[in-house]
Amino acid sequence: DLIPVIAIDGPTASGKGTVAALVAEKLGWHYLDSGSIYRVLALAAIRRGLDLANESGVAAAATGLDVAFSSGSVWLDGEDVSLDLRREETGNAASRIATLPAVRAALLERQRDFCVMPGLVADGRDMGSVVFPESFLKIFLTASAEARAERRYKQLIEKGLAANIDDLLRDLQERDARDASRLVAPLKACADAVLLDTTKLSIDEAVQFVMDFVVQRG
Ligand code: C5P
Repeated sequence: DLIPVIAIDGPTASGKGTVAALVAEKLGWHYLDSGSIYRVLALAAIRRGLDLANESGVAAAATGLDVAFSSGSVWLDGEDVSLDLRREETGNAASRIATLPAVRAALLERQRDFCVMPGLVADGRDMGSVVFPESFLKIFLTASAEARAERRYKQLIEKGLAANIDDLLRDLQERDARDASRLVAPLKACADAVLLDTTKLSIDEAVQFVMDFVVQRG
């Protein structure tokens, strides 16, 4: 039987993670935060002292990665690394290893493993284009760079992590440029994706927008 998938892609801090998790909760479906898989591999690579440009080394680390997602936390080698994962350094390192084709290939099955009944809501950069091209609904979420920097700032402060709005805006623009210009699975909306600009929308409004499409296509 076909397992229904909703793919939500978009740039960093566009709100896709929050929206995807809430849509999954409303539907009672599983949720995949694919960015956290890139982040956990980046963290493992850093901890093992690997050069982040060492494609075969990082890809090999991906194959043997001891990672678990449970009780709302991410575990690496049996340790809760949830807080480390959210750090800007980890996000930047993730975006660097994400440019390597062998690394993306090594993480493909790990992401597809999340696709189980009754359904999956997956967020990332290439959910609709590469990982789950058969998704019945593809959403491309965007927001202005300034709005995204402000949201990321609030998230970090809430978690008790240090943040500077100007640095965040600069990092975010650098990360967008790297994600959009890479040769494999660059960040871009699929031809069959629905565009949603959340700059002026509340979280609830964005969730409702997605839910309306789910009902319409269901
Ligand atoms: O979404 P998040 O900021 O957690 O992702 C961290 C980085 O991982 C992104 O900047 C991107 O380079 C990479 N990524 C990716 N493909 C995905 C999810 C994340 O390349 N599906």
